[in-house]
Amino acid sequence: MFSVLFFNHGCIGKKKSPEKNSGLRKADREQLTYTLPSPKLKGTITVEEALSKRRSHRSYLKTKISAEDLSQILWAAYGISKPLDGYPQTRGGLRTVPSAGALYPLEIYVLIRNVEGIEPGVYKYFSQSHKITCVITKDMKEELSLAALNQKMIHVAPVCLLISAVFSRTTQGYGDRGRERYVYMEAGHSAQNIYLEAEALHLGTCSIGAFNDDEVKKVIQLPDEEEPLYIMPVGNYYNRSEF
Ligand SMILES: Cc1cc2nc3c(=O)[nH]c(=O)nc-3n(C[C@H](O)[C@H](O)[C@H](O)COP(=O)(O)O)c2cc1C
Repeated sequence: MFSVLFFNHGCIGKKKSPEKNSGLRKADREQLTYTLPSPKLKGTITVEEALSKRRSHRSYLKTKISAEDLSQILWAAYGISKPLDGYPQTRGGLRTVPSAGALYPLEIYVLIRNVEGIEPGVYKYFSQSHKITCVITKDMKEELSLAALNQKMIHVAPVCLLISAVFSRTTQGYGDRGRERYVYMEAGHSAQNIYLEAEALHLGTCSIGAFNDDEVKKVIQLPDEEEPLYIMPVGNYYNRSEF
């Protein structure tokens, strides 16, 4: 179902015939890029179990997570679930997250400190190819934690996602309503998917909205047109209730 695209830079490439990718592959010479394992479409718990267990976890172990788990989390966050040709505005097809007008304003970054087989750094996720490309060759989690009122869970977790948005993609179609409502709603959809997928993988996460936007932008070197919306650490957690 998921075609693997090969390209040297960015996320543009020609579709090959559908092919499953069972393992992590380090690809690029120009920029450090990994093709992630194809997401699995069957898990070990039901949606209802994931919903009933979902909690925000803030005490993480530093233990590594697998590339398969990272792949699964990123796919849940914004992966392609129905590839489409001929709809360039979707940049690859329909996704695990609904989007007003299928304009997909979100971008997903992942700060990696401890994932099996992947060098630490800040990576951008490319949904269409299901690849991550390094944008900063340092994990930056300590700096991100400081930009978020020193919330230590960001620093400790082996992985941390950042959801950002290019508002203009949605405002072009929907004006103020797109800016004031739709983009934030979509970030919520993505975040809930991350929570549920984390539960399904017996990992923990926490949606973090308390941070300084300008500082986060600086730490992750976001393009001017992108605004940070959510930070979500992911990892194995201490099995204790925080409330
Ligand atoms: C928009 C939003 C922003 C949040 N920001 C933070 C945050 O900055 N730090 C934090 O520890 N939790 C944050 N949370 C998580 C809430 O504290 C948590 O969802 C709430 O306590 C309910 O607990 P539960 O998620 O385990 O059900 C945020 C949640 C939402 C929806």
